[in-house]
Amino acid sequence: PRSVWLSRHGESMLNLEGRIGGDAELSHRGEEYARKLPELVLESVGSDRPLTVWTSTLKRTIATARHLPKHYNQLQWKALDELDAGVCDGMTYQEIADLYPDDFQARDEDKYNYRYRGGESYRDVVIRLEPIIMELERSEDILIISHQAVIRCIYAYFMQKTQEESPWVPVPLHTLIKLTPRAYGTEVQTYKANI
Ligand code: G3H
Repeated sequence: PRSVWLSRHGESMLNLEGRIGGDAELSHRGEEYARKLPELVLESVGSDRPLTVWTSTLKRTIATARHLPKHYNQLQWKALDELDAGVCDGMTYQEIADLYPDDFQARDEDKYNYRYRGGESYRDVVIRLEPIIMELERSEDILIISHQAVIRCIYAYFMQKTQEESPWVPVPLHTLIKLTPRAYGTEVQTYKANI
């Protein structure tokens, strides 16, 4: 690709409560981000270069893409859905620590390999992202609107982060990341929405 743009969905109602996973609508702030995103994208892309937009199949990424120019092609990928937290889906970290203390500690010790009961690990996510990465490698400019764990894995791939580092890469909300692969490494630019 020439460049890949990455963004998390806007803040969701569950983000507000500190709950992971689920399929919630955007919060008021999240909706504000969705409305700001076209400007950020235009500022970053520079001209009216057409982008293809990939989202997950979850409401919060589709809603985040809603105000982008109509002439951008949009595609939904199940492979871009958030890391599946299995039995912990919809819980707060405090609830997980109380209910499954051993799991909580195991995850902290080896976050890349820890697989939620009935769910996924970061390693699992990296494997299901293989077709996405292959498609990305042979595509022109793509904007991916997805979720924290998934964006971490894609970012880690382009930035050649280790397996240990990738689950901890900070990916703030309401920020557009532009990655441009170059001969000597990938160039990163970030654009923070003012909301
Ligand atoms: O629900 C998944 C979160 O977005 C990923 O955060 O892997 O740091 O718990 P975490």
